[in-house]
Amino acid sequence: MRFRSRDWFDNPDHLDMTALYLERFMNYGTTPEELRSGKPIIGIAQTGSDLSPCNRVHLDLVRRVRDGIRDAGGIPMEFPTHPIFENCKRPTAALDRNLTYLSLVEVLYGYPIDAVVLTTGCDKTTPAALMAAATVDIPAIVLSGGPMLDGWHDGKLVGSGTVIWQSRRKLAAGEIDEEEFLEAALASAPSVGHCNTMGTASSMNSMAEALGMSLTGSAMIPAPYRERPQSAFQTGKRIVVMAYEDLRPSKIMTRSAFLNAIKVNAALGGSTNVQPHLTAIARHVGVELLSNDWQDHGHDIPLLANVQPAGAYLSERFHRAGGVPAIMWELLQAGKLDGDCLTVTGRTMAENLAGRESHDREVIKPFAQPMKTEAGFMVLSGNLFDFAIMKTSVISDAFKARYLSRLGDENAFEGRAVVFEGSEDYHARINDPELEIDEDSILVIRGAGPVGWPGSAEVVNMQPPDALLKRGINSLPTIGDGRQSGTADSPSILHASPESAVGGGLGLLHTGDRIRVDIGKGTCNVMLSDEELAARRAKYVPVVRPDATPWQKIYRATVGQLSDGAVLEDAIEFKQIAKTLPRH
Ligand code: FES
Ligand code: MG
Repeated sequence: MRFRSRDWFDNPDHLDMTALYLERFMNYGTTPEELRSGKPIIGIAQTGSDLSPCNRVHLDLVRRVRDGIRDAGGIPMEFPTHPIFENCKRPTAALDRNLTYLSLVEVLYGYPIDAVVLTTGCDKTTPAALMAAATVDIPAIVLSGGPMLDGWHDGKLVGSGTVIWQSRRKLAAGEIDEEEFLEAALASAPSVGHCNTMGTASSMNSMAEALGMSLTGSAMIPAPYRERPQSAFQTGKRIVVMAYEDLRPSKIMTRSAFLNAIKVNAALGGSTNVQPHLTAIARHVGVELLSNDWQDHGHDIPLLANVQPAGAYLSERFHRAGGVPAIMWELLQAGKLDGDCLTVTGRTMAENLAGRESHDREVIKPFAQPMKTEAGFMVLSGNLFDFAIMKTSVISDAFKARYLSRLGDENAFEGRAVVFEGSEDYHARINDPELEIDEDSILVIRGAGPVGWPGSAEVVNMQPPDALLKRGINSLPTIGDGRQSGTADSPSILHASPESAVGGGLGLLHTGDRIRVDIGKGTCNVMLSDEELAARRAKYVPVVRPDATPWQKIYRATVGQLSDGAVLEDAIEFKQIAKTLPRH
């Protein structure tokens, strides 16, 4: 097999260029014989840095990745990627997913790299890497850095993010003070690793495994466990063989693999952010994923993972219970998975899952005795938007009793809209008595989509006013054109597309309008006539803040809606680009 890196290092037609390509790699001791040996050059996309603490474990793990690559006869070359730290990057890390994607495409295409290990962890690092691997289409394998150990506080499990949403309600209700709030939050992060709940990071690394893009059982190994560097070693060994097998992402990430992933996410009670991320990866690899696929293939899947925010436990215990393969084993036995999908192991998913049954039934439920039935996302549409999703696995009994019964229809509810223009407006006014927010209210936030924010923000899981929390009303229905954290336990209506900033219907809403949501029918409508909506639309001018950075301007000019993965639409035409070599 003649690898693409030969065109750089072993090209008799361009000896001058080959000399230039070779000579500078000598300066850390690499020899010309090594580079000209014909062995594959394996890139290691390093996402760890001081600015991305969730992925920082990769700075150490990479040593074992290199060992594995050398052991199998490859040549490792590590390079940095643009950092994405979910909790810290303003105005949102979501803005950077497409930037990391873009830059990774350029590196994988423009340098002598034959195959790549994608180090992942924090939320957007996994989709960015898989999107780039999809566009370039050289052999690629995902290595998760793994979640943190389980967090404990006062004898109770405290999970990433989820503890924040729960504690802020307790703080507002006067049940805890500020010091207790901070203590519980800090205790949720006891080690290196990414979020230990089934938030977006754990969900997306599980999706990488469900798609067949990482080694079996690798996604949820806690970052400090000895199995983690062992998995790094095996990943390094395997990618070299994949390079010789020419086992590229387009052979693994098929439509069947994506439908498997949608089902696994439902059984995990996984993050709502999986919807735009999987959609984005599918579009870059050229697989058609329809918006209704979430409901048609995911909704009837039961919740099997007893992991926060939908359940009680955290990822360390989940890993010991069998992790993602044990969940997939349940789905496979129940006939819900396509076991024939090819994976990075070179074997089929069904072969990978043999013998992976869980022995901890407190944490991983049998398919026939789930935590909840019908745990996937519902897809909604109506006169306010063409697409939105709702995570049904987190609808609590209290929420059901309060909303889903009062119209005499257990699937529908109505309420009075209270509209906020972005999160600053929400924080400024949520406790204003003049808004008259009560149990009949539906909180709406707009200006939070890809163009509006920009990047789309995790702000839709709005907390009710303090006065309601003190009365024990922990959540109100919420609707928005942004997202919510994967660690949130709110049954919000999310990702409303098109967003208000590009003329979507949420922009036409006034506080006081009545909204009717019918989960059974998958509809959400403001109870206004078409004439009234048309009259409002004629006068409507979206509120959009100015661009603050060059990237914001470029991003806004080409980004699509959350329904379509919020990708750079101009990038979609580029497929399998490594088939052609870049010019010298
Ligand atoms: Fe990085 Fe959760 S904030 S994984
Ligand atoms: Mg998040």
